[in-house]
Amino acid sequence: MADEPLVLGIETSCDETGVGIVRGHTLLADALASSVEEHARFGGVVPEVASRAHLEAIVPTMDRALREAGVTIADVDAIAVTSGPGLAGALLVGVAAAKGYAVAAEKPVYGVNHLAAHVAVDTLEHGPLPEPAIALLVSGGHSSLLRVDDLARDVVPLGATIDDAAGEAFDKVARLLGLPFPGGPYIDREARAGDPAAIAFPRGLTAAKDLAGHRYDFSFSGLKTAVARWVEARQRAGEPVPVADVAASFQEAVCDVLVGKAIDACRSSGIDTLVIGGGVAANSRLRAMAEQRAGKHGIRVRTPRPKLCTDNGAMVAALGSHLVAAGVAPSRLDLPADSALPLTVVSV
Ligand code: KG4
Ligand code: ZN
Repeated sequence: MADEPLVLGIETSCDETGVGIVRGHTLLADALASSVEEHARFGGVVPEVASRAHLEAIVPTMDRALREAGVTIADVDAIAVTSGPGLAGALLVGVAAAKGYAVAAEKPVYGVNHLAAHVAVDTLEHGPLPEPAIALLVSGGHSSLLRVDDLARDVVPLGATIDDAAGEAFDKVARLLGLPFPGGPYIDREARAGDPAAIAFPRGLTAAKDLAGHRYDFSFSGLKTAVARWVEARQRAGEPVPVADVAASFQEAVCDVLVGKAIDACRSSGIDTLVIGGGVAANSRLRAMAEQRAGKHGIRVRTPRPKLCTDNGAMVAALGSHLVAAGVAPSRLDLPADSALPLTVVSV
């Protein structure tokens, strides 16, 4: 509909330079430039390398998105940008660009929370989010369970990882198995040929004694160590490492905990919508297991298509569009790039 807001979103919190354009809940463009290959040989994202790559990519990516959507910056109703959390230098590039374009084109600017944007992107695929909803956010830097009472204003953290993020565990285990970075998609692929019940890896913070204080928290560091010990023992014995079985058993342990706690959060609060977002939400086993287990309890699972799960500009535009529609005031022009922006701050 032509009266819905046309919003451009800029994402630069990690290693993807993303510019997305939406009208209401309709995705018009999703341009992406990734520096992932420049980080691969270091086995993780190098902040300075990421910042420099954003600087080089931001203007061309912006131009590509506008061309793809068939609009000009003058047509846009608002510009949204990831204000945090993320890498400080990387965020700064996006925030500075958003301010520059906003001043030049005289547009309002919304500094938004990257994690809320991972939830909002689902509206591009499934329409408005029923509220309240439970959100499971699983990415390379975060693993959280949230209650979303109002996606524009009121997000309540229920729990989070106390050590590694889920994506980080995927990346570390992949490295251990000699798979490339980022490892999540490679583990996903290897696991298809493996037996998820081959090795009984630990499920962190699920024992009765842990549930008292950490019912909705996660811990993946013990799991990662258990996989490392198991692989080392094999290698020491001079036996081959069954990569597919290790990948499948590890993935099963992660998904089992994520899905179990997410469903517990839904059931205990009587909420029947579960939205899963963030890079790890692209995992095929997580998606299938969530569908299957949630279905038994009448819980509807919403997961954006895999390409929208990993970082992109469309998710920022989607949240921006939601904020405009909800009547939230734009940010001030001195809005910060805040690497530690709290989960509860949807827009700054
Ligand atoms: O959301 P995202 O693109 O960036 C952050 O905000 O961190 O998430 C990246 C993470 C990486 O750890 C990557 O390995 C993981 O998402 N990931 C996956 C899959 N695709 C990406 N993990 C498991 N299975 C996948 N298919
Ligand atoms: Zn992310």
